[in-house]
Amino acid sequence: MAKKIRIGVIGTGGIAHAHLNPYLSFEDVEVAGACDIVPGKAREFLDQYNLKNAPAFDNCRDLLKNVELDGVSVCTYNTTHAECSIAALEAGVHVLCEKPMSFTLQEAADMVKASRKAKKMLTIGFQPRYDYMRRKIDGIIESGALGKVYYIQSGGGRRRGIPEGTFVDAAKAGYGCLGDIGCYSIDECLHAVHYPKPLTVSAIATDYFGKNPKYWPHADSFNVDDFSVALVRMEGDCTFVFKQSWAMHADSLGDTLWLGTEGAIKVVQGFNEHHTPSRYMYYTDVNGMHIDSVIEPSYPFNAYAGMVVKDVFAAKIRGFVDAIKSGGPAPIPGEEIIYNQAICDGIYRSSKLKKEVEIVMPAF
Ligand SMILES: NC(=O)c1ccc[n+]([C@@H]2O[C@H](COP(=O)([O-])OP(=O)(O)OC[C@H]3O[C@@H](n4cnc5c(N)ncnc54)[C@H](O)[C@@H]3O)[C@@H](O)[C@H]2O)c1
Repeated sequence: MAKKIRIGVIGTGGIAHAHLNPYLSFEDVEVAGACDIVPGKAREFLDQYNLKNAPAFDNCRDLLKNVELDGVSVCTYNTTHAECSIAALEAGVHVLCEKPMSFTLQEAADMVKASRKAKKMLTIGFQPRYDYMRRKIDGIIESGALGKVYYIQSGGGRRRGIPEGTFVDAAKAGYGCLGDIGCYSIDECLHAVHYPKPLTVSAIATDYFGKNPKYWPHADSFNVDDFSVALVRMEGDCTFVFKQSWAMHADSLGDTLWLGTEGAIKVVQGFNEHHTPSRYMYYTDVNGMHIDSVIEPSYPFNAYAGMVVKDVFAAKIRGFVDAIKSGGPAPIPGEEIIYNQAICDGIYRSSKLKKEVEIVMPAF
């Protein structure tokens, strides 16, 4: 029987379960060990899945030193993504790192450098990339049907959706809403146009809901953003207007929109993080007439009965395993997502400094 792909899990909190379940469902994968800085947590995690023979450690260096691994899932909180990913890459192990890629832009550059030096894969865990309609919309934009895309805006947002735990602790998450769901919006908007290089960012971030005990029970300790908005100038005369919220008094921050010289696409009220149906529109002119077309989702409708969410997580994990097996490129490469991180970093700096900032890409 062919050798199984040996996987380790670094950080055994909430999202680690959404990695472990698909790994365990694949016959060609063996979960070979795990670690967490909270003593005993990794052991408990593995035992929950009856992985009694897989060793557990209190830090990633011991896991990487003592267990032969092909790949790891880095499922730690945001501010330790870089140190754990770099340690794994330096140990010669492929990395699937959870989103956002890192906290700072420099950390993201160091991760890419480590991946290139070790010639090991660094892929980032943006599972909505595997959503069927996301892929179809991306494909229409990539086909050139819109002409030159000169304006992009993100939409959606949560009315009440401040999460608990490490997401709202700046020391662990770095960002609040921006790092939790904002990075998804950036990817949704910019992947299809191949991430033009961001040049400047002017941003505002607020915390009116997290800081208000009427809306959030732990208001005293809330120390991250719950809303942010930004104007991003990008190479090639393309403008990106970003907005995202964990909480607000509205049902949406609007539509996701790509405006091109030959057409436009609108996702009404933005891509929905729960993958429930949105309305997708395509606009163009034919023979001097304005044509507005509904893009019909053409998959079986019951695909939405909870399956799509499950599938995108499984697809993300399968994509990583397949890339390890084929020696193929990273499905969502660090070299691409560093531009996502550059925008997050720019939004963070601009909102703190209360002025526009330049984005200077570090060497990577
Ligand atoms: N893709 C998704 O849909 C999705 C969903 C939720 C969370 N996430 C991402 O997953 C990451 C973790 O989120 P979570 O909800 O699981 O958080 P969590 O706090 O529940 O789990 C993180 C775990 O990492 C451990 N950890 C931290 N630093 C470590 C280190 N240096 N070495 C080993 N272990 C370490 C912590 O002790 C903790 O147990 C975040 O980056 C978050 O953005 C992604």
